[in-house]
Amino acid sequence: MTKWLKICVLEDIPRQGARVVHGPAGDIAVFRTLDDEVFALDDRCPHKGGPLSQGIVAGKRVACPLHGWHIELDSGVAVAPDEGCAARHPIKIEAGVGYLAASALALAPQAAKIACAGH
Ligand code: FES
Repeated sequence: MTKWLKICVLEDIPRQGARVVHGPAGDIAVFRTLDDEVFALDDRCPHKGGPLSQGIVAGKRVACPLHGWHIELDSGVAVAPDEGCAARHPIKIEAGVGYLAASALALAPQAAKIACAGH
């Protein structure tokens, strides 16, 4: 059974932007589309590790700020002809509050230290 951790309210995530959840296993980028869908990916581009959270969201893709690769938000897969994948993590919104699967942070919920920060 999935354990969920409250990370922030939906309104804290800018539309077509992202916030970062700092976890012990690395940063996770939480994206919000224009249609208020949310997605969570490792904040590391599969190309050379660029911070995807600082990219521009268009539709269900984010453009990496370093070299412009496009990454599918619902799968983490780079759009062809580029190849690679950023790990995707379960996320949900309930009553305007965002929850990230505890497994994304690789720690028990009570041990996780979460900070939701802008970029
Ligand atoms: S590091 Fe993302 S496109 Fe190069």
